[in-house]
Amino acid sequence: MGKQANIFFIFFYLMKIFLVASPLNSSTDEHSLLAIKSHIITSDPNNILATNWSLGTNFCTWIGVTCSRRHPRVTTLNLFNMNLQGTIAKEIGNLSFLSYLNIRNNSFNGAIPYEIGNLRRLHKVQMSFNQLSGEIPLSFGLLTNLKVLSIQGNHLTGAIPWSIFNISSLQEIALTLNQLYGTLPAGMCYHLPKLESLYLSSNHLSGNIPTSLSACSQLKILSLSYNNFSGAIPMQMGNLSQLQLLHLGSNKLSGMFLDIIS
Ligand SMILES: *[C@@H]1O[C@H](CO)[C@@H](O)[C@H](O)[C@H]1NC(C)=O
Ligand SMILES: *[C@@H]1O[C@H](CO)[C@@H](O)[C@H](O)[C@H]1NC(C)=O
Ligand SMILES: *[C@@H]1O[C@H](CO)[C@@H](O)[C@H](O)[C@H]1NC(C)=O
Ligand SMILES: *[C@@H]1O[C@H](CO)[C@@H](O)[C@H](O)[C@H]1NC(C)=O
Ligand SMILES: *[C@@H]1O[C@H](CO)[C@@H](O)[C@H](O)[C@H]1NC(C)=O
Ligand SMILES: *[C@@H]1O[C@H](CO)[C@@H](O)[C@H](O)[C@H]1NC(C)=O
Repeated sequence: MGKQANIFFIFFYLMKIFLVASPLNSSTDEHSLLAIKSHIITSDPNNILATNWSLGTNFCTWIGVTCSRRHPRVTTLNLFNMNLQGTIAKEIGNLSFLSYLNIRNNSFNGAIPYEIGNLRRLHKVQMSFNQLSGEIPLSFGLLTNLKVLSIQGNHLTGAIPWSIFNISSLQEIALTLNQLYGTLPAGMCYHLPKLESLYLSSNHLSGNIPTSLSACSQLKILSLSYNNFSGAIPMQMGNLSQLQLLHLGSNKLSGMFLDIIS
């Protein structure tokens, strides 16, 4: 009896360790995907997700889903060009193995869920050309492995959260064609040593172009046109030796441009 009790004790103890150590598992992934599906009111006549993403089948075979080779955990969610309409379920934040999210060119609306900041393995976020609104969640700053953040062509408002400029792994920031306001932080480039592309055109950004831009020494593409930037074009930009494309037009800038491109 005592021995049996011990075995039960050990069993429950191990269960407890297991549950504490891995609160999110593959059944969480299935639950998360079904939550994502339930927030999509698709206008797609083929109803791809409705028929393909069905309970009781292996979610690693669902269209747009790729799992890790070693575990049945979702690593890629690739739902671009699918004419999907709806919101992004906050349960997406439970896909804890996700490294690549692509929902480009659909009709997702509403806010980007704050829970996306839980996805610490994310390398690439591609959400361009949807109807997403609200502010860019501050929680993006928690994505310390992020290389590409692309949310162009949406209805995003508010300021660009400064936390984004702290993600030192970033190579591309693309926020063109939104309704973003506010200024760029003076030290915006102090923590972006790998940034190669910065697309911020066609927003309502204002204030000076930060002199710290020269610290983004790998910049190849800098696109700031169609905003409300003012003041002088910083001389320090002449140090951006990798620069291939520079769009500054349709702002309120002044300065001796020829000195910079010389
Ligand atoms: C979903 O589509 C994929 C690719 O076409 C296919 O391999 C898979 O069997 C489908 N699953 C279901 C449940 O229809
Ligand atoms: C966007 O997706 C639709 C299908 O939903 C496709 O017909 C169209 O060509 C796509 N546009 C681009 C620019 O990829
Ligand atoms: C998943 O996400 C939702 C909403 O963010 C949350 O309520 C839930 O507790 C999470 N965890 C699991 C295991 O589903
Ligand atoms: C950026 O990182 C620095 C040091 O790592 C930290 O002190 C600062 O609070 C961070 N700023 C933001 C806006 O996250
Ligand atoms: C720039 O600022 C002016 C004056 O505040 C405003 O009327 C105009 O709409 C702004 N332009 C953009 C592109 O935000
Ligand atoms: C360019 O960089 C050099 C060396 O890093 C520095 O001495 C110089 O002041 C910089 N020039 C500008 C205009 O920032």
